[in-house]
Amino acid sequence: MTATILLTGGAGYIGSHTHVALVAAGYRPVILDDFSNAAGDVPERLARISGTEPRVWRGSVLDAALLDEIFAVERIDAVVHFAARKAVGESVRMPLEYVETNVVGLVTLLKAMRAAGVFRLVYSSSATVYGVPDRLPIPEDAATGFTNPYGYTKLAGEQLLEQLAASDPRWAFGVLRYFNPAGAHGSGLIGEDPRDVPNNLMPYIAKVAVGELPELRVFGDDYDTPDGTGVRDYIHVEDLAEGHVLSLAALMRDGRGHLVNLGTGCGFSVLQMLAAYSEACGRRLPHVVVPRRAGDIAACWADPSRAAELLGFRARRGIGEMCASSWAWVSRRQRN
Ligand code: UFG
Repeated sequence: MTATILLTGGAGYIGSHTHVALVAAGYRPVILDDFSNAAGDVPERLARISGTEPRVWRGSVLDAALLDEIFAVERIDAVVHFAARKAVGESVRMPLEYVETNVVGLVTLLKAMRAAGVFRLVYSSSATVYGVPDRLPIPEDAATGFTNPYGYTKLAGEQLLEQLAASDPRWAFGVLRYFNPAGAHGSGLIGEDPRDVPNNLMPYIAKVAVGELPELRVFGDDYDTPDGTGVRDYIHVEDLAEGHVLSLAALMRDGRGHLVNLGTGCGFSVLQMLAAYSEACGRRLPHVVVPRRAGDIAACWADPSRAAELLGFRARRGIGEMCASSWAWVSRRQRN
């Protein structure tokens, strides 16, 4: 029987790519999204990619009555929970809203799941829970912490799931700590689509490439890294999406939870990413070095071995593919 999977935030960047991967793997995904950070035409784009009309509920994970209705109508078997706020700087200004959406939203969802007898959930966590990493590459048993309200909510969510799993053996959680998602779907039909000036490196470079922003501002070139700029573990969003399918499959198979990093195990600097994107778009993209951004760390990359061992997960796509697919997506979106 085809398992039905509720994707909260399923019209967003990672959610939409996971929708495609779930359909390809034979699941029946159902989207719940309030479209606060997703374009209204994502469902029709998903239909074009997968050849099947997506099921979409418009609303919030804070709406308990709506959640009860979805669980009753759709006969959900498991949940992949993306719906959350994710901008570090904004979280510093709006801690209440971050706790509300990310923590209260999770609690509301878990209560609806329990009422419906659904006990399997894949949780979007982040390498942000490592705070300032105490070693590189970062294994899952590294110390955790947070440096802003966003990080606080992600870690609080993880800890809540841990307590819940300890309270009742029916619960099984796949906790996925993402490193830096990048790139877009190979079709060029879906990708990251930030509403405002992007905070993150890759969407910012993309806007420079299409001419919407004049130049990349490189936040510091005096870090203790090979070229002085920040180093991160960029992971292609299609690899990340496949990680969710593997996590879900593991939960459905053995009913045991897991907590894993999703990264490549390789770090690339800001200037390396800019060079890779310049190559993808065929133009040397301009940059200017400005002071360090408050709260940034020098380097961060994953030890991906636990995800390989437990889930059979391996990121297959490199930074060339990340930049080429991003460029295909943004240049096409600009024309449409
Ligand atoms: N950077 C620039 N210029 C920019 C934007 C970023 O030089 O305009 C640099 C940053 O200083 C950093 C690197 O590019 O060295 C990556 O920055 P991002 O903002 O893209 O990503 P971060 O690693 O800072 O943060 C990301 C997510 C967070 C998450 C964190 C840890 O945005 O949500 O990874 O997992 F918490």
